[in-house]
Amino acid sequence: MIQITVNVNGEDFDVDVMPELTLLDLLRELGFHSVKKGCGEGDCGACGVILDGIYCKSCLVLAMQADGRSVLTVESMGNVDEPHPLQKAFVDEGAVQCGYCIPSMLLAADALLSENEDPTDDEIKEALDGNLCRCTGYVKQINAVKKAAKVLREEENDNE
Ligand code: FES
Ligand code: FES
Repeated sequence: MIQITVNVNGEDFDVDVMPELTLLDLLRELGFHSVKKGCGEGDCGACGVILDGIYCKSCLVLAMQADGRSVLTVESMGNVDEPHPLQKAFVDEGAVQCGYCIPSMLLAADALLSENEDPTDDEIKEALDGNLCRCTGYVKQINAVKKAAKVLREEENDNE
């Protein structure tokens, strides 16, 4: 066992992990069940998190590689009472059905908008590529990201 410290959504967790444990399994053991376990092989995208500011698939990262690093899950974005504009837009646009793919997709979209405040459809598709959705067909999710981007730009203009 290896002792590591991982910061998840601003809280430090000191844990002993087996060398082969993935970050995905560690996060779920810690109770972050919004990080979904789909394929476990990097194909479905359900396990996405932000690791030190970079969106990644947590099934492809060993827990011990996250030692001393910062992880953000969808809980860091907002909640039912105070949703992030992306969360609100996904609901308003009907982009959420079963919801299995949504936490990871929201994080991928958030990572995109943090670097590109007005992405094109193709840029959104590229950012969400690798996040498989069995329910919606992606059009509503692309529309939701565009809608949230507009809201965020307007908020920024209001703050200037
Ligand atoms: S569970 Fe990680 S990509 Fe499918
Ligand atoms: S909403 Fe069901 S898999 Fe995407």
